[in-house]
Amino acid sequence: MPSVLVLNGPNLNLLGQRQPEVYGRTTLADIEAACTAHAASLGMDVAFLQSNHEGVMIDAIHAAKSTHGGLVINAGAYTHTSIALMDAVASVELPTVEVHLSNIHAREEFRHTSYLARVAIGQICGFGPRGYLMALDALAERLAVK
Ligand code: DQA
Repeated sequence: MPSVLVLNGPNLNLLGQRQPEVYGRTTLADIEAACTAHAASLGMDVAFLQSNHEGVMIDAIHAAKSTHGGLVINAGAYTHTSIALMDAVASVELPTVEVHLSNIHAREEFRHTSYLARVAIGQICGFGPRGYLMALDALAERLAVK
């Protein structure tokens, strides 16, 4: 069964309490449960990881190369700053879908730049938690399962 790593970056552990007017009331645990159920319906396995540390995220991306067939990444603010994360994704050559809960293009100028978008197969933003499920759909198709 193909496996996908869903990787979440800084401050996303606070989903549900953090700026609910922007990010909603759904917690990361809720999103994990929804991803697990949706992946199962697509015939995929899913692993879920959140870290507030760029290096931990990079290590997880490297480790994913031998254990997962694809990546879903919400890198939080590192999206807009981290060339190192972009390089990590490029290095492992796993199909990667970038996700954001909010529509980063409708927000502050500094959120319009995504280094990850340069190495992702696509970006999904503005659909809240549903974006993660859409990303799994895209990867299921890319990995040709079901
Ligand atoms: C975010 C958007 C980022 O700009 C922000 O720094 C986040 C969350 C989103 O999911 O909408 O932490 O990635």
